[in-house]
Amino acid sequence: MKLLVCGGAGFIGSNFVRQRVTDHGDQVVVLDALTYAGRPENLEGLGVTLVHGEIQNAEKVAEAIGDGVDAIVNFAAETHVDRSISGPDAFVETNVRGSLVLLEAAREREVKRYVQISTDEVYGSIEEGSFTEESPIVPSSPYSASKAGGDLLVQSYLHTYGLETVIARGSNNYGPYQYPEKLIPLMVLNALHDDKLPVYGDGLNVRNWLYVEDFGRGISHILAHGVAGEVYNVGGPDESTNIEVVKGILKHTGKDESLIEYVTDRPGHDRRYSLGSEKVRALGWSAQVRFEEGLEKTVAWYRDNAAWWEPIRSGEFREYYERHYGRALG
Ligand code: NAD
Ligand code: TYD
Repeated sequence: MKLLVCGGAGFIGSNFVRQRVTDHGDQVVVLDALTYAGRPENLEGLGVTLVHGEIQNAEKVAEAIGDGVDAIVNFAAETHVDRSISGPDAFVETNVRGSLVLLEAAREREVKRYVQISTDEVYGSIEEGSFTEESPIVPSSPYSASKAGGDLLVQSYLHTYGLETVIARGSNNYGPYQYPEKLIPLMVLNALHDDKLPVYGDGLNVRNWLYVEDFGRGISHILAHGVAGEVYNVGGPDESTNIEVVKGILKHTGKDESLIEYVTDRPGHDRRYSLGSEKVRALGWSAQVRFEEGLEKTVAWYRDNAAWWEPIRSGEFREYYERHYGRALG
């Protein structure tokens, strides 16, 4: 299969590209703006073509499609809730307008399949039970609102133009190559450096953790068997409070709980996410990695791959961290 993977140099995108090349023998073109979160290193050795450009740039999209692709899978997005609170513009630009430009190109070029990668956060927060694909869209951050906007445009292209679109909504992913602004890699690297672990609020917010390779396998099932026009939730097998996650990381890094520091809560912080995944299970998918095993593997990967994160921790991330947390990294 010839695939155009947008945002393929980021965390989930690069893990997905690795699976597609290794397990499916696909020919892959990646279109990526290489923002702070996108790195060519994430695709090293995979033999993919990397087109450096934004999804909102129609000329770059045309260049990436070249003489045609069998499917487009769109991961490209601004993805960090905290950054969306301090600067929402880029989120609307990429997640909404970018999706529109891609959809338009897919329609013009009569691409057979368009898969939009989305998030459980479009449903908002849920105290009990789990969201299904029928749950209302009630996003609470500029990030999730912009993702919801992208999803609505995707669905309109099916209804209006007959473009064969499907949407895959994942729960919180974790695993190798995740930028250390997100909870798990941030806490792992801080623990390895004896920096404080900044837990927002009371630490009792709950997330539904999905190992990144399980999400990739789910996306492949949806790409191959998903019904056009449908949404598929892909939720992880386990839920955990943030403080439990942080304590698990301290255990795996052999560090002391005195590193934990409770800090001011995130504004509008969603209390709990939980996804029901019956629909994607009916396509033959199930999660293979439980949280305990995945967390241990993830800690080991960061411990063994300092060459991957050292340039990040000494660059843009260090400034972001100081700005956001009001303290320097050690
Ligand atoms: P990431 O921030 O690691 O990667 C995003 C990638 O998109 C980067 O390579 C970046 O350079 C690229 N990008 C950003 N703006 C672009 C633009 N305008 N044009 C082209 N490329 C651009 O994000 P991630 O965690 O890998 O998330 C990938 C997708 O999965 C996103 O759509 C996100 O909403 C969704 N998602 C993420 C999670 C999660 O837990 N991380 C869960 C569910 C869904
Ligand atoms: P995050 O990784 O930003 O993902 P999301 O907000 O998209 O779910 O955060 C996961 C959880 O961890 C969320 O409840 C916020 C919390 N958190 C902290 O407590 N401290 C931190 O420094 C960060 C980045 C997140």
